Amino acid sequence: MEQKRSSFGGTIGFVLAAAGSAVGLGNIWRFPYLAAKDGGGLFIIVYLILALTFGFSLLTTEVAIGRKSKQGPLTAYGKIKKGWGFLGVLGCLVPAIILPYYCVIGGWVVKYLSVFLTGGCSAAAEDGYFTSFISGTYEPIIMMALFFCIVAFVIFRGVNKGIESMSKVIMPILLILVVGIAVFSLTIKYESPDGTVRTGLQGLKILLVPNLKGVTAGKFLNVLVDAMGQLFFSLSVAMGIMIAYGSYVNDKANLSKSINQIEIFDTAVAILAGVMIVPAVFAFMGQDGLDSSGPGLMFISLPKVFAAMGRAGDIIGFLFFAMVLFAALTSAISIMEAVVASFMDAFKMSRVKAAILEGLIAFAGAVIVCLGYNKLYFEAKLPVADGVQILDILDYISNNVLMPAVAIATCILIGWVVKPKTVIDEVEKSGCIMGRKKLYVVMIKYIAPVLLFVLFLKSIGIINL
Ligand code: PFF
Repeated sequence: MEQKRSSFGGTIGFVLAAAGSAVGLGNIWRFPYLAAKDGGGLFIIVYLILALTFGFSLLTTEVAIGRKSKQGPLTAYGKIKKGWGFLGVLGCLVPAIILPYYCVIGGWVVKYLSVFLTGGCSAAAEDGYFTSFISGTYEPIIMMALFFCIVAFVIFRGVNKGIESMSKVIMPILLILVVGIAVFSLTIKYESPDGTVRTGLQGLKILLVPNLKGVTAGKFLNVLVDAMGQLFFSLSVAMGIMIAYGSYVNDKANLSKSINQIEIFDTAVAILAGVMIVPAVFAFMGQDGLDSSGPGLMFISLPKVFAAMGRAGDIIGFLFFAMVLFAALTSAISIMEAVVASFMDAFKMSRVKAAILEGLIAFAGAVIVCLGYNKLYFEAKLPVADGVQILDILDYISNNVLMPAVAIATCILIGWVVKPKTVIDEVEKSGCIMGRKKLYVVMIKYIAPVLLFVLFLKSIGIINL
């Protein structure tokens, strides 16, 4: 007998779970950096406009595909249109590739949280600390395993008791932590050894005031593509996640409203992360400190900033890494669920079996990623970077190649094959009116695929903006 499909208990549960997925490392280690680099307020305005148009269209499409098909990503596309099952395979491959390396990064966060908890702030700020940690033999694997166990535990507990209940607790705490640290950041005043005084409020200006100095058409295009790439990643689209979560949404729920709330939550946290990071980094390290993003920002520059804060740095650093851990956990949970839901639907497996299978595959992959800095160390060359390791290669294949390809194919399927009305009808099924309908049609048929194609060319290094 077929088991009844799980569903979120309510729309708040869905919104918080989806926002939990969307709010991840990208919001924290990339949004603030891009905003500081791309003209502050200028980047934020472009990002907001894209969120209301491009982001809204992609997110609506995926959630609607999930709710209509009531399938995980692997089988959802084939259910929407016969012959499109191949897209499901690609759509399921993306989360399967991301999960192992995301758990490795999750392990790094666990490590830094434990270091700050035990007062090791100044050790963490020393040069070479991060490299010597990730190139260790056992510690990165143990930390990854800890992170992995929490993720797997939540997935075993299921949609209601696991994902939904966890998101309802974690997301409000995360928000409080980001707001609290952001407020602290604004109060910072630092006098550097050469006597220059820099304040958090000056840093805030860099983040929020539009800087149009030297903006040419080419530079503006660069800002546009940066903002689009960031938004695309930040909303967790093209990763199978929103299809899986959409498949658990009740038919009576107001999708339009939920999608707006998810976007608002994600964007608010990204901007707050900017308010948290840019003023602090600027005050302690000046303009040069704002040049780093990704692991370099989180695990090398920020520990130096916390160490420079003195005693307060131990506490702020601990709270910061707790917040990052929450953000990473809810994203990793969503990415594992995308694969587990796919296995359950495609192979009629129980949740437990599907979770064990995916758990074993991902864990083995994550161990290999850890060893990529140690026993399996090599330096490879990608079209976009030199001297990279296994983690970077997986990140490149999933983010730069597969995700834009899946998103473009999804736009073609919905815009041209089954037509946008399929999604609009799905959204309006519950009796609610879908706002921005005309905009949606134009976006999904013409603008989004073109923008995504430009992003794709940039991601694989064919054009260099
Ligand atoms: N929206 C997430 C972020 O900004 O970090 C993207 C994400 C990455 C979601 C990896 C899930 C995941 F496993």
